[in-house]
Amino acid sequence: MGQRFVSSTLRNSALYLFAATMICLVGFQSAEAGRLKSVDQELYGALARHGFTGTIEETFQQKLGRPIDKKRANLGRLLWFDIVGGLNGDNTCGGCHSPTNGFGDTQPIAIGIDNNFVVGPNRNGPRNQRRTPLAANAALYPTLMWNSRFAAVSGDPFDNSGGFEFPPPEGFSLSYLPHLLVAQAFIPPAERVEVAGFSFPGNSDDIRREVVRRLNQISEYVKLFGQAFPEVAAGEPINFDHFSKAIAEFEFTLVFANAPLDRFARGQRNALTEYQKRGALLFFGKAGCVQCHQVAGPSNEMFSDFKQHVIGVSQVVPLGGNVVFDGPGADEDYGLEQVTGNSSDRYLFRTAPLRNVAVMPAFMHNGAFVRLEDAIRHHLDPESSALSYNPGALPPDLQGPLGPIEPVLDRLDPLLRTPIVLSDDEFSDLVGFVRYGLLDPRVLPEHLKKLVPNRVPSGSPTLMFEFQKEH
Ligand code: HEC
Ligand code: HEC
Repeated sequence: MGQRFVSSTLRNSALYLFAATMICLVGFQSAEAGRLKSVDQELYGALARHGFTGTIEETFQQKLGRPIDKKRANLGRLLWFDIVGGLNGDNTCGGCHSPTNGFGDTQPIAIGIDNNFVVGPNRNGPRNQRRTPLAANAALYPTLMWNSRFAAVSGDPFDNSGGFEFPPPEGFSLSYLPHLLVAQAFIPPAERVEVAGFSFPGNSDDIRREVVRRLNQISEYVKLFGQAFPEVAAGEPINFDHFSKAIAEFEFTLVFANAPLDRFARGQRNALTEYQKRGALLFFGKAGCVQCHQVAGPSNEMFSDFKQHVIGVSQVVPLGGNVVFDGPGADEDYGLEQVTGNSSDRYLFRTAPLRNVAVMPAFMHNGAFVRLEDAIRHHLDPESSALSYNPGALPPDLQGPLGPIEPVLDRLDPLLRTPIVLSDDEFSDLVGFVRYGLLDPRVLPEHLKKLVPNRVPSGSPTLMFEFQKEH
């Protein structure tokens, strides 16, 4: 009896404890839910204010005005990886825009011709001037390149009505093409330091003629272009418009803009973690990022205003590169001034679009930072970041000497002149949001790997991609 009493008392108190715990838990959960709700509400409000809908990818086909042409895209993919388009015989788009990194660089500054055929951390050869941006999502950019030197005047890459503006010699001559990326694809094959090399004589048009002359001699390409373009099937030779349309069609398949933030914006509240939501609120609020990394209107939700700013990035200069840098010491990058010739445009670079930055091995136009944390921290106080900058984390040929920093800091964008103060927790929330909240998993190497062809139609040797071993 005594025993029963004890055990029933125990049982009762256990029950009581259980009930009390449940009440507490429920109470705690609903407080938590209330708090989450208010974070959600705040974030939905911020997204609405800044014009973010999370539906940009769904609108792609409508913008294009037709479905993607699979035959053209596949042909473009083969060309992307085939060194047949590079007259130096050792590089093609894929050597710099690599599937190991979202079709962007594997290096802080691109290596073009005279490389060791490796695409990855062990790529070797003379460097060019800047880091290769991701081709993923470039189909939605109204201006291209770090200094926006290729631009759709309409502000819409799908709309050539205002013309596509390029520096000379192309000027407006590519404006008849249907999309900014089709026009852009005319440029790299003619770039001597990227793929063409210095031995073939002539101008850019001569180089392009030689590239299509080679393509027309390869029966497999004649067949593939014929399947993608009726006029080639009817007997017309392959021309550079065909080449560029195929390349751009492949780039249209690289729109990866369905990240956790997009899903959250479309109503899936648990697509972002709580800390990512807090990071997002900082991004769209106190940290001021969205002032330049815009999402509304012509930004196409790409996290860039597609305008240029001086943010005080240290001037990294390769030893033994094959591009002569700007300035009296040939150790500077004048950015937009290279295009306009106007010294007030010196050191201006396009606000970097931020989707999928998680797959990039380095950040900024010259890869000055190899950690996303450092690239973001730089913005909080560019002056002290630049003055204490150390290139020690970069490959040996990029470790200095650096170009002058004072003239860069003199021109620092007013938006970044007042340091932004974040607590350690806030900072890590912000970094977490930028890294994961904007990452569309389809851009990860394990998916893009499947796009690398085993062989290419020209029969040329294929590039050796250094995909990291899967875990
Ligand atoms: C030698 C490396 C290299 C090769 C090869 C190369 N690119 Fe690039 N690409 C770059 C670099 C570097 C930039 C940025 C240059 C700048 O801003 O001055 C760039 C920029 C671009 C951009 C603009 C992206 C943006 O964010 O604005 C596109 C699109 C592009 N390249 C497509 C191609 C295509 C298509 C090919 C092949 C026909 C190609 N590239 C070959 C290095 C390369
Ligand atoms: C004054 C405009 C401006 C503001 C404000 C701004 N950025 Fe930037 N950001 C840029 C520009 C311009 C670049 C490219 C600079 C370069 O390469 O020289 C850039 C580059 C970056 C990069 C590197 C991306 C890449 O592809 O290399 C990251 C990451 C980034 N910004 C995140 C942020 C975050 C996070 C904030 C808020 C704390 C922020 N930015 C605020 C203008 C701005």
